[in-house]
Amino acid sequence: MSDQTSTPAGSAVIVGGARGIGLAAVGLAASRVAAMTVLDLPEEAPQVGKAFPGARYQCADVLDPTSLEKGFALAAERGPVTSVFVPAGITLPAPLLEVRQEDAQRCLMINIMGAVNTIQAAAPHLAPDASIVLCASVAAYTGGGYIGGPVYGASKAAVISLTKGAARELAPRKVRVNCVAPGTTATGMIGDDPDVHAMFVERSLVGRLASPEDIAESVLYLWSPASSFMTGAVLDVNGGIRL
Ligand SMILES: NC(=O)c1ccc[n+]([C@@H]2O[C@H](COP(=O)([O-])OP(=O)(O)OC[C@H]3O[C@@H](n4cnc5c(N)ncnc54)[C@H](O)[C@@H]3O)[C@@H](O)[C@H]2O)c1
Repeated sequence: MSDQTSTPAGSAVIVGGARGIGLAAVGLAASRVAAMTVLDLPEEAPQVGKAFPGARYQCADVLDPTSLEKGFALAAERGPVTSVFVPAGITLPAPLLEVRQEDAQRCLMINIMGAVNTIQAAAPHLAPDASIVLCASVAAYTGGGYIGGPVYGASKAAVISLTKGAARELAPRKVRVNCVAPGTTATGMIGDDPDVHAMFVERSLVGRLASPEDIAESVLYLWSPASSFMTGAVLDVNGGIRL
């Protein structure tokens, strides 16, 4: 794909791009990639077409490999897929000793197997030099916290490991795989309680929450040739919240 200064090229797919960080990446990509396909759970997502005129949208569940395969086949109609971002994920605030089996399994399945299924569905359609970006979290390092509990944190630590394994396995095809590890980001996932927001602002060295665009910019960097020597890496975008 191209950087901001050249003519947009390439075909991007964002899995989980109907809202939040994914939707911000759709919008920022509008001037930087030629074609966009967004996959997510809702039947329709009119905000996607507003963010990226001409973007294609298809309903898909990361737990349903067939729906992902259909989505990537749709994207490939516009040329080999050059850029993939997988923000699809759910949080799980429950404490470890209280978490219900079915909730833990769903969180682990969506956050880990969702990324596995997406990479498998994307693989036949990837261009040489394609860039895949997975989505971890600061919670991977902290064992979860307020927004996501220990099971969520473990799922995001697994995403970091998966990033490294996928980078190694896809390197012979010249495909790079990296992940972003966002800090607390102002999306629906963290809710709108001002006291909770204030607590995270206080912990951030930058003195604010991340905007979805803060995270999306790092994704577009990892898609771009500017990051061509990065693979298997974790890009921490957390305002220094752990320091
Ligand atoms: N918001 C934060 O503070 C924060 C911090 C660290 C990491 N993250 C991670 O960033 C990613 C994006 O989070 P967000 O804040 O934009 O949340 P969000 O809830 O706004 O967006 C998540 C998206 O994933 C989609 N999704 C969920 N389950 C899916 C499934 N089974 N199949 C397909 N799509 C599915 C949702 O429909 C939604 O569009 C997530 O992986 C999240 O864990 C968020």
